[in-house]
Amino acid sequence: MKIKLLIVYSFLLSTLLLISSGNSQEEKFWTKLNPAFGGAEFVNDKETCISCHEESTAAYEHTIHNRLFQHSTANNLESLNCESCHGPRSIHKEDPDNRFAFTDEQYTIVCQQCHQEGDRLNWHISTHKISGVECTTCHTVMEQKSNAALLSKSDELSLCSSCHTDVTAKLMRTSRHPVKEGKMDCSSCHNPHGTSSQAMLVKATVNETCYSCHQDKRGPFIWEHSPAREDCLTCHDPHGTNNRGMLITQNAGLCVSCHQYGGHINQYRYNRVSTPYGNGCVNCHISVHGSNHPSGVKFTR
Ligand code: HEC
Ligand code: HEC
Ligand code: HEC
Ligand code: HEC
Ligand code: HEC
Ligand code: HEC
Ligand code: HEC
Ligand code: HEC
Ligand code: HEC
Ligand code: HEC
Repeated sequence: MKIKLLIVYSFLLSTLLLISSGNSQEEKFWTKLNPAFGGAEFVNDKETCISCHEESTAAYEHTIHNRLFQHSTANNLESLNCESCHGPRSIHKEDPDNRFAFTDEQYTIVCQQCHQEGDRLNWHISTHKISGVECTTCHTVMEQKSNAALLSKSDELSLCSSCHTDVTAKLMRTSRHPVKEGKMDCSSCHNPHGTSSQAMLVKATVNETCYSCHQDKRGPFIWEHSPAREDCLTCHDPHGTNNRGMLITQNAGLCVSCHQYGGHINQYRYNRVSTPYGNGCVNCHISVHGSNHPSGVKFTR
């Protein structure tokens, strides 16, 4: 009997210790973010906040955060709802002049309490973070303005366009990926939260990114065309061009930049620019990405 009681007591004690250490960890987080939080406690009552903030919170009611948090008992942090992002607000409740306003950079640290995994694993090395673009630059969490992902603009393309006009202008060109048509997004190729690859590409290299949809270009081929194996961007601009097939220059000019005399040093008849061949090396060299035909060494089949 005594032993049983002892076990129960030690269990209770250890849970109490766990809870209190959880709380002090929480407190440390907020005082580190802003020392003025020292001594503040969690009000832990959404309605109290709303009583003074009805206007700014009306739209928040319908967001994914509120829908999840208001039923949350699973996790101390989530069940705090407002204060999971705004910190312990007892001092503010008594004296609203103590606003505890956050910068965008501070909000990022706040968001990361819950969003450090998965696609956001490489956030700290992302070009966006390094350039001062923060979570709250792209996400508006107090209001759902987009269909998905709480974006600060109505959709992803408008969001990216607001800063990358040079790239989005290319989407108006005649040959382009169907981004404007809504069949894919910038995030089909880029992770705006950062990756360890160049240009925050979703895969390790340019070619791996392209292969994820253009599997037929991966090979392996019996006859490799080395520039295609090395870098698709040697010939294509994936954001769009005014040449067929998103080529960076007109067909013949492109090939001739590496293959002098159009490749046919002793067969000049092939090189006459005025002939239908002039602009169409690929009329004969149809498998310019590589060939699996036994006699495809010149990529003519
Ligand atoms: C007694 C009224 C009152 C209560 C209760 C109250 N606030 Fe405030 N709060 C204010 C006033 C006044 C301001 C300053 C004006 C404004 O921004 O609306 C403010 C400002 C804020 C701001 C803006 C900070 C900034 O960026 O400038 C946040 C965030 C905030 N309150 C969150 C909360 C949360 C969360 C709660 C509940 C724990 C809460 N407030 C409870 C009155 C109150
Ligand atoms: C998921 C994080 C998060 C939660 C949860 C959250 N907020 Fe906010 N809140 C923000 C951020 C970020 C801003 C800064 C402005 C923006 O991005 O919309 C903000 C802005 C505010 C402001 C200033 C808005 C203004 O109009 O100037 C108030 C007041 C506020 N929040 C109150 C609340 C209250 C009350 C709750 C709970 C009912 C709440 N927030 C829940 C993240 C959150
Ligand atoms: C207390 C934990 C917590 C905090 C703090 C928090 N979030 Fe979330 N957030 C969640 C959960 C849980 C979900 C729903 C599941 C998921 O998508 O991970 C979510 C979902 C999201 C989504 C996806 C919305 C959708 O429609 O799919 C975005 C975007 C987001 N949060 C951004 C933010 C930003 C920006 C901040 C900081 C201002 C923030 N969150 C702070 C827990 C949190
Ligand atoms: C440059 C703009 C940009 C920045 C900065 C940004 N995001 Fe996002 N975020 C997006 C876009 C676009 C999406 C939707 C497409 C996607 O999932 O990649 C998204 C999606 C999300 C989602 C939902 C993902 C899912 O799997 O459903 C979460 C959560 C999120 N972001 C959190 C954050 C947090 C936290 C930060 C800061 C550390 C942040 N974002 C910074 C643009 C951004
Ligand atoms: C608030 C402005 C802003 C928004 C919105 C924004 N970006 Fe950026 N982005 C930048 C800045 C600043 C840089 C760094 C300088 C540069 O390359 O222009 C950058 C760089 C990039 C880069 C190059 C990364 C590298 O390592 O070279 C890519 C790719 C990118 N952004 C994609 C996106 C995508 C996709 C979106 C939409 C989800 C987006 N950006 C939204 C400001 C923004
Ligand atoms: C089909 C894949 C693909 C799509 C879709 C795509 N990009 Fe890119 N993007 C790339 C590749 C590959 C690079 C790498 C260029 C390099 O390394 O030289 C790149 C580079 C960039 C850069 C770096 C600077 C530059 O101009 O080269 C920015 C910024 C950028 N993309 C933004 C965007 C935005 C914004 C969108 C959506 C409108 C978008 N990208 C859609 C593949 C794509
Ligand atoms: C998310 C899937 C996806 C990724 C990743 C992707 N593409 Fe595409 N690509 C498409 C789609 C969809 C089309 C349009 C097919 C159509 O219209 O029939 C296309 C078409 C093309 C075309 C033909 C355009 C034309 O006018 O005939 C080229 C060239 C191309 N992509 C190159 C690339 C390169 C280079 C990369 C890597 C930087 C890449 N793609 C990455 C989906 C993708
Ligand atoms: C040596 C230049 C060159 C390189 C490098 C190259 N391509 Fe191409 N690609 C072409 C040419 C030429 C066409 C034919 C364009 C036309 O006439 O429509 C083409 C067409 C395409 C097409 C559309 C037609 C088809 O065959 O499906 C896709 C998709 C494509 N390339 C993807 C890629 C990918 C992915 C890579 C990287 C693995 C790549 N290309 C590398 C020259 C190149
Ligand atoms: C970036 C440079 C580059 C570009 C652009 C390029 N090639 Fe090549 N190509 C090479 C290299 C390198 C080889 C391998 C050379 C060798 O093995 O002698 C090669 C091999 C070939 C071969 C086989 C040659 C042989 O001797 O077996 C043909 C055919 C060919 N390319 C056609 C084309 C066509 C058509 C285009 C335009 C769509 C093109 N190439 C664009 C670099 C390039
Ligand atoms: C009418 C069809 C045709 C056209 C158009 C054509 N080629 Fe060829 N090309 C061939 C044939 C066939 C061979 C193989 C010749 C051989 O094996 O002797 C060849 C061989 C080559 C070779 C390899 C030369 C070698 O020494 O083995 C290269 C490189 C080449 N072409 C590049 C090009 C380029 C670049 C263009 C466009 C300016 C082009 N070709 C246009 C049919 C054509």
